[in-house]
Order: sequence, then structure tokens, then C-alpha cells
Amino acid sequence: MTAEAALVSSGDLGFEQFRAFLEKACGILLGSNKQYLVASRLNKLMEQNGIRSLGELVQRLEAAPRSLLREQVVDAMTTNETLWFRDNYPFEVLKSKVLPELLRETPNQRLRIWSAAASSGQEPYSIAMAIDEFERSNPGMLRGGVQIIATELSGTMLQACRKAEYDSLAIGRGLSTERLHRYFDNKAPGRWVVKPAIRSRVEFRALNLLDSYAALGRFDIVFCRNVLIYFSAEVKRDILLRIHATLRPGGYLFLGASEALNGLPDHYQMIQCNPGIIYKAK
Ligand SMILES: C[S@@+](CC[C@H](N)C(=O)[O-])C[C@H]1O[C@@H](n2cnc3c(N)ncnc32)[C@H](O)[C@@H]1O
Repeated sequence: MTAEAALVSSGDLGFEQFRAFLEKACGILLGSNKQYLVASRLNKLMEQNGIRSLGELVQRLEAAPRSLLREQVVDAMTTNETLWFRDNYPFEVLKSKVLPELLRETPNQRLRIWSAAASSGQEPYSIAMAIDEFERSNPGMLRGGVQIIATELSGTMLQACRKAEYDSLAIGRGLSTERLHRYFDNKAPGRWVVKPAIRSRVEFRALNLLDSYAALGRFDIVFCRNVLIYFSAEVKRDILLRIHATLRPGGYLFLGASEALNGLPDHYQMIQCNPGIIYKAK
């Protein structure tokens, strides 16, 4: 029997305990048929730590809530799929509708934008590039400045965000040649790094979306894209309510293309943008 198979067959109780641990730690809800996913993602880590079953792993994680092992497990269980200018419309709507509208209302104020699940940085850096493009076609309109805060749970992803270095495969996903040449330096064959002028616009912080957002302050725009799909309906609702509390009235929320708000009509107004939907905080 392979080590993976041994892990999977190590008993439903261990798997159930692990599911409960993961949901409590970071909101991620695993389907009851995801034993193989867990096994494939944790097999090596468990072997390295001499852990023979998921039950034993959960015991170790609960005994040491601040351990490196716990961080590595949560890290391994996150799905970090992302790309540049994902779905395109959010960045077009940002430039053509949201920024002009917000700047008309408060022309001299600094705009604050939050990218709430930054993965390896493509989303916040795409926002920074879109802001640069807006400034080029509307000189002087962003005189109050823009601050982009990007947060992420995974330590490995945060490191990648801060490094801002991407290989050809990552670069090939969603970037036009024009944007590549304008916003990246070619560091080595097949390796590109985001130019300092774009990097310096984004501040990265570690944040679990289950924790408090109080230290972040208030925002005009929040991107919370392709992360709520991993959470239960209750966790999702709680996060959306707490994001609403960070948004100033009239500010905007961008969700993933396949995500919907489902409810909360007292908090958000749905705005159809053709293509795409965004949500305005009431
Ligand atoms: C699929 S990626 C989406 C990235 C980007 N927003 C996009 O749309 O391309 C989801 C990200 O959410 C992060 N994540 C998962 N659970 C989280 C939590 N509880 N708090 C903060 N980030 C979380 C994962 O680490 C992962 O990088």
C-alpha cells in the first residue's frame, strides 16, 4: 500500500477531525469525499514529521496552535490559483466607472483599496497597473493618491507577493505584451520582476479572513475574489458583513465572476456592469 493510500484509509474519524480543524483554522470547508485531496497535499509533510494518521496530525496541531507545522498544513490546504487581470471586467470597470465616480465625489481624498486574498500577487499588482493606466489617461485626477493593501493567509504566498518575481508560465496567464514590457523588468531568461513603481504601490500584510479587520482601516474599494467559494454560507455571510463595515458608504465590492452575494440587500446594492456585477455599499 502507498503512503497516500495508507493516509486515506487511516480512518474516517481522523478525516472528520481534520475537516473540523481546517474549517476552524481558516474557514475552508472540505467536502466529505476529499480524502485523496488531503492525502496528496499532506502526505509528504506528514512523512517528514513522522505522523502516521490524520487523527495524530490533528492532535499535534491542537497541542501546538502556533507551530510551524500548523502554518505548513494550512498553507498546503489553500488553493492559490490566480492570474493577471483575472476576468478582465473588474479592472475595466474600475477604470471606466468606479474610479471616475469615487473621484467625482471626493476629488482630493486618498483612495484606499483592499485586495483581500492576494494569492501570489497577481490581483493586487493588476490593480496597481490598472491605477497607473487610469492616471496616464486622466492626468491629475488621482491627486489625493491611492493606497493598495493586499492581504493573504498563506505565508508562502505572501513571500511570493513580496518577491514579485514570476516565471514565463505565470507571466503567460493574462498579461498582454504591452503590459509585460511596461510594468516588468526581465531579470533573467524566463524570469520577470514587477517594476518598483508598481511594487511600491502595494503593501502586503498577513491576514486570516476569519480574524478581525479592525487594524486595516476603511476602504473605498474591496476586491474579495475567488476565496469565499471555499467557505460555508455562514462564514461567507459573516465575512461579507465585516467587509461591509470596512467599506465607506458608496464604496464598491468586487467578487469573483462565479460568486454571488445572495442576500444582504440592506448592505449592498447590486450593480450590473455588462459584463460583470459589482456591489455598492449602502
Ligand atoms: C484561489 S486564490 C484567489 C486569488 C485572487 N483573489 C484571484 O481571484 O485570483 C484564493 C486565496 O485565498 C487564500 N485564502 C484561503 N483561505 C483564506 C483565509 N481564511 N484568509 C485569507 N486568505 C485565505 C488562499 O491562500 C489563496 O491564496
